[in-house]
Amino acid sequence: MKILLATEKPFAAEAVSGIKKILEGAGHEVALLEKYSDVAQLLAAVADVEAMIIRSDKVTAEVVAAAPKLKIVVRAGAGYDNVDLAACTRRGIVVMNTPGQNSNAVAELALGLMIFMARGQFTPGTGSELKGKTLGIHAYGNVGRLVALLGKGFGMHVVAFDPFVSPAAMDVDGVERVKTIEALYSRSNYLSLHIPATTETKGSIGYDLLASMPNGGTLVNTARKEVIDEQGLAKALEERADLKYATDIAPDASFEQFGKRFFATSKKMGAETAEANINAGLAAAHQIADFFATGNTKFQVNK
Ligand code: 3PG
Repeated sequence: MKILLATEKPFAAEAVSGIKKILEGAGHEVALLEKYSDVAQLLAAVADVEAMIIRSDKVTAEVVAAAPKLKIVVRAGAGYDNVDLAACTRRGIVVMNTPGQNSNAVAELALGLMIFMARGQFTPGTGSELKGKTLGIHAYGNVGRLVALLGKGFGMHVVAFDPFVSPAAMDVDGVERVKTIEALYSRSNYLSLHIPATTETKGSIGYDLLASMPNGGTLVNTARKEVIDEQGLAKALEERADLKYATDIAPDASFEQFGKRFFATSKKMGAETAEANINAGLAAAHQIADFFATGNTKFQVNK
């Protein structure tokens, strides 16, 4: 089978060689499309492939239509909002992710952003400490849980909201479960966002939630920019000179007017570590090799 590794944001070299080793060792051919700047390059590259490994690369209905032999797409990472699931399902294409494989990198960045904001973006002046503050976790999945555990290591009190996770799972971690999103935001000095971008969540984090945060409240978004209501966020930052927003997914609107109360990395970088690239990339390669060898669809997200 011909398998395309399509990564506009390339994996570390060690991950790429590991992916090749696994797939070529299983008798497959690997094609590489990295750092492409035009969707036309992706459309041309998928023309004769049976499988794809992607990151945040967009697999649209147009890409699916341009890939008549495509049988499986593995998103090497967690969120698969970049894949048109309906278009894939219509064609019988299996879509998988690699849950948990890049979570630690994202969790470490979330804590790094908290410290960065607490210390005035590492410029001179008096900052504050994380210890003793309340850390709210919005969605207790793989990343949210790791952020919670790291926060506890910093001496933070951790509260979390996630209706899909059993209270017992949070109890075991020593994390306090809150029953509503409103209660989560109103209690959190630091709020770490880990919800996926879905029709329900898009634009759902807005003025009311942000304005309810305690004095000095800091929202950290390493999830998706689409979940933020940017107008509401701007209004809250305008009205409250104590609120802060830090993210690794730059908003569409400009927030530069908020000075050191706003920070965005120039490119999404939560999962940009060699370890995360290797974990997610190799997991994706194993899942594809296994799918073609045995039909295993364990991580399929469009069942
Ligand atoms: C994910 O959903 O796995 C993360 O957002 C990482 O995305 P990336 O592979 O584009 O860095």
